[in-house]
Amino acid sequence: MANVILLGPPGAGKGTQAKRLVDGRDMIQLSTGDMLREAKTSGTEMGRKVADVMARGELVTDEIVIGLIEEKIAQNTAGGFIFDGFPRTLKQADALAELLVRTGQRLDAVVEMQVDDAVLVARITGRYTCGNCAAVYHDTTRPTMVEGTCDVCGSHDLRRRADDTEEALKTRLMEYYKKTSPLIGYYYAKGQLSAVDGLAPVEAVADAIAKVLDKR
Ligand code: AP5
Repeated sequence: MANVILLGPPGAGKGTQAKRLVDGRDMIQLSTGDMLREAKTSGTEMGRKVADVMARGELVTDEIVIGLIEEKIAQNTAGGFIFDGFPRTLKQADALAELLVRTGQRLDAVVEMQVDDAVLVARITGRYTCGNCAAVYHDTTRPTMVEGTCDVCGSHDLRRRADDTEEALKTRLMEYYKKTSPLIGYYYAKGQLSAVDGLAPVEAVADAIAKVLDKR
C-alpha cells in the first residue's frame, strides 16, 4: 500500500497516470478537479461558487478543497491513495500532512512530472474525456479507436472541459508557478520528492512511477 502525490502543471499527465495506478494497483484516485467538476454539475451552492473560478483557470479556495479531501481520506483502501491535483498550495500541503497523521496514515512518495511548457497547449487543447467512465483521450496522440465512441465503456458521451482553452491555460499555468510549484522545494526538503520525465510516452512514464513506488 502506498499514498502518493502526482505533482505537475496542467496537462502533465497526472490524470492519465492516476487511472493506470487505479487499474494496476487497486489504488483510489482522489482528484480534486474531478470532485469540483462533479460539484458543479450537481447544482449545489458550492458547485455554483466554483464554476466561474474554474472556467477562468484560477484556484478554488483552500477551505473548499481541503474539506473535499477530508471527507474522502477516512475511507479504507487496500492500495492507498493517489492525490491528483492536490495539494496545490503550501496551506493544502500542511493540511494533508495533518489529515494523514490524524487518520494514522503516511505519505509514501511525491512524484513530480516534469514537462516542457511548450507541449502543454497542444496536450490541453486536444484533450477529451469520456463523461461516463472518465477515460482520457487526445485528438492526435490518443484518439478513440472508433470516432465518437469510448474505447473502455462504449459511451458516446465524449466531452471537452470548459477550461481547456489557450486563454484559461495561461491563467492555470500562472497559478501553478505562483502557488503550486513551491511544493517541489517543500517536498524535496522533506526528502519525499522524486522526479519523472513527463514528456516520455505514457507507458514509459508509468514504468518510471512504478519504480518510484516499488523502491520505497
Ligand atoms: P484539475 O482537473 O486538477 O486540472 P489540472 O491540474 O489543470 O490538470 P489537468 O487535468 O488539466 O491535466 P493532467 O495533468 O491530469 O493531464 P492529463 O492526464 O489529463 O483542476 C482543474 C481546476 O480545478 C483548477 O484549475 C482549479 O480551478 C480547480 N482545482 C482543482 N484542484 C484544486 C486544488 N487542489 N486547489 C484549488 N483549486 C483546485 O493529460 C492531458 C492530455 O495529454 C490528455 O489528452 C492525455 O491523453 C495527454 N497525455 C498525457 N500523458 C501524455 C504523454 N506522456 N505523452 C503524450 N500525451 C500525453
